[in-house]
Amino acid sequence: MKILVMNGPNLNLLGEREPAIYGGETMNSINDELRGMAASMGYEIAFFQSNSEGGLIDRLHEARLDCAGVILNAGAYTHYSYAIRDAIAAIKIPVVEVHLSNVNSRDEFRKNSVIAPVCCGSIAGFGKYSYMLGMYALDNKLGEKDE
Ligand code: DQA
Repeated sequence: MKILVMNGPNLNLLGEREPAIYGGETMNSINDELRGMAASMGYEIAFFQSNSEGGLIDRLHEARLDCAGVILNAGAYTHYSYAIRDAIAAIKIPVVEVHLSNVNSRDEFRKNSVIAPVCCGSIAGFGKYSYMLGMYALDNKLGEKDE
C-alpha cells in the first residue's frame, strides 16, 4: 500500500521561508524522516510538491489509482481553493489535512479551511510532527477498512 505526501505552494522553500513560523528544516529532510517512518510501518511512500493548483489536482486524481491515502498540506490553497476541495471529494481514498503552523492562532483568513469538510481529519501546529501524526492517523483510517 502506498501513501502519498503532498505539499502545496511555497512549501518547497521550507527551511528558508519564515523559519520562526515554519521551522528550519527543509521539505526534503522532513520527507526523509517520513520515508523511514513509512518503511517501518510497512508502507510504500511517494512525495509530490507543486506551487500550482492544477498540479495538485492532477496528482490527487492520479492518487485515486495508485495510492491508499494522502497526507496533504495544501498551503494557502487550504483557505480558498474550492477546486482542490472538489478534487478531494471526487476521489474515494482518505485525505488527512496537515499544517506545520497552528493556523487557528494566526491571521483570521487562516482559520477557515475549505478542504477540512472533505478530509478525514486535520492536524495543525506541530511542525514536522503534524505530518508524522498524519501518518499514524492515516494508518488507523486504512486499518478500519479491514475491520
Ligand atoms: C501552512 C499554513 C497556511 O496558512 C500557509 O499558507 C502555508 C503553510 C502550514 O503548514 O502551516 O503555506 O499550510
